[in-house]
Amino acid sequence: MDEAGFQCGFCAPGFIMSMVAMLSKNPAPTREEAAHALSGNVCRCGDYNKILDSAMRAAEYVRQPG
Ligand code: FES
Repeated sequence: MDEAGFQCGFCAPGFIMSMVAMLSKNPAPTREEAAHALSGNVCRCGDYNKILDSAMRAAEYVRQPG
C-alpha cells in the first residue's frame, strides 16, 4: 500500500505469497535477490519496479522490532 505497488491487484496474491516466503528465509534481501524470488510471478499491468519497491518496503517492516 505504501509503495502503490499494484494497479488492478489481480497478481497481488501470488506476489505477496512469494514475498512472505522470501522474507521468511531472508529478511534482508538485496533488490536483486528479491527480484529473483519474485520472478515466477507475472503482472499484466507490468510495473515490476513498483512491486519490487513494495517487496523492499515489506523487508524493512519485517526487520523492525515489535
Ligand atoms: S497489478 Fe494488475 S496484474 Fe499486477
